[in-house]
Amino acid sequence: MYQEIDLDKIDINEEPPIEEPDRQYYFMAKCRKWVKGFEQKNGRLPKSCVLNFGCQMNARDSEKLRGVLRAVGYVEGTEDNADFVIYNTCTVRENANTRVYGRLGQLKPVKKKNPHMMIALCGCMMQEPEVVEKLKKSYGFVDIIFGTHNIYKFAELLFTRCESERMVIDIWKDTDKIVEDLPNDRKYAFKSGVNIMFGCNNFCSYCIVPYVRGRERSRKPKAILREIERLSKDGVSEIMLLGQNVNSYGKTLDEPITFAELLTEIEKIDGIKRIRFMTSHPKDLSDELIDVMGKSKKICKHLHLPIQSGSTDILAKMNRHYTKEQYLELVRKIRAAVPDISLTTDIIVGFPGETEKDFQETMDVVRQVRYDSAFTFIYSKRTGTPAAVMENQISEDVIKERFNRLLKEIQKIAAEVCVVHEGTTQEVLVEDISGHDKTMVTGRLSNNLLVHFPGSLELIGQYVDVHLKECKGFYYLGELAGR
Ligand code: 5AD
Ligand code: SF4
Repeated sequence: MYQEIDLDKIDINEEPPIEEPDRQYYFMAKCRKWVKGFEQKNGRLPKSCVLNFGCQMNARDSEKLRGVLRAVGYVEGTEDNADFVIYNTCTVRENANTRVYGRLGQLKPVKKKNPHMMIALCGCMMQEPEVVEKLKKSYGFVDIIFGTHNIYKFAELLFTRCESERMVIDIWKDTDKIVEDLPNDRKYAFKSGVNIMFGCNNFCSYCIVPYVRGRERSRKPKAILREIERLSKDGVSEIMLLGQNVNSYGKTLDEPITFAELLTEIEKIDGIKRIRFMTSHPKDLSDELIDVMGKSKKICKHLHLPIQSGSTDILAKMNRHYTKEQYLELVRKIRAAVPDISLTTDIIVGFPGETEKDFQETMDVVRQVRYDSAFTFIYSKRTGTPAAVMENQISEDVIKERFNRLLKEIQKIAAEVCVVHEGTTQEVLVEDISGHDKTMVTGRLSNNLLVHFPGSLELIGQYVDVHLKECKGFYYLGELAGR
């Protein structure tokens, strides 16, 4: 996509342009020349491998990195054979950081064997100064380090590294800049994530995201609509609108617009059949949005609505700005407007000060709402967040025991909720060949549930009616309807 700019026509002997994205296309052209030199020397094109460790935003960022790499001439490799390995990191919980250090340790001997190899680290974890200090001190074999705010500069940073022998580090504290129209390389031909906003202003007391992703910035509606129109022309029929808090989309724009208004505009785009979005913050989910969801033909019947805790006391300490009752009332309103909607959530167990009584409040919400599924997390102390210095940090044993009880309840309910569709026929977007059985394909219902059924490659990207024969707990086995 967006390969309207012919890199070979850019004069790389001139000074680099100041304006973006022209400047990055200039550096892509420079990198391409470097890649050609590599090819002449080695008799092959260099291979790259981008790995993402985080959320859907992170996955979308990785597609942008791959877009640049493809534009300059890299071909896809694996972590073991790539000449350029990029880790797009996450830092929402401590174990995400631990994983990156572990993988990096394993890469060191690989790099020793391959003299061409370069390693880049980017993403949320790089926005933490202690991390960069540690990398400089103990992981000197890393070539490029950059953060979340300047990811659009990837081509420029890559070229800087190709020209020098030194580690290139470029981390910004924050930005108000959004650079449009850079290349990207989608994982799926028929569906795509679309960033609608970046950053977060909520400062939930446990969360590091506002510190590493910066202040909330919305893309202009025109830029979003233009991107989706292009995606649609390119064969995409399902889009996932991405933002840390999509319900507050547009509030900080010069000409404010609500998320519901944006959805209404997107709905008009021909060729788009399914619209998803995440993540919604309960405090900002408006009646206007519920109304639009109720009337829409394209917005999928799925809402991810993180509750984090069912205890009003804990929610206050988390700085979430809603009570248990307000959350339940919101769920009631949504279900009234969209009766067959699937609801999913995020829950943190073991927030500082969480008592058994608080935990029971969470269990109570789980039983009342009856989520289709829920992501459960053990509270992770993130240095620099208010919760990290709160009293009454909960012991690991207590957290684990609560976590297991919660998981059991969620799984029991999810299986009961999932089974209600058994025996029905529903429209499915076919996504892939099944990972377990090559004679089967995997598709997704509007409500986000997966179904596996006999089929082959040519079905991928198509909408078909599938009879849901058997519920397997959190997915279905089915067959094409009418067979
Ligand atoms: N510990 C555990 N889980 C966390 N999350 C965010 N910060 C933390 C933390 N410090 C969870 C929240 C959020 C999801 C993306 O990650 O549930 O919704
Ligand atoms: Fe973190 Fe809260 Fe922002 Fe979500 S809304 S990214 S949990 S601060």
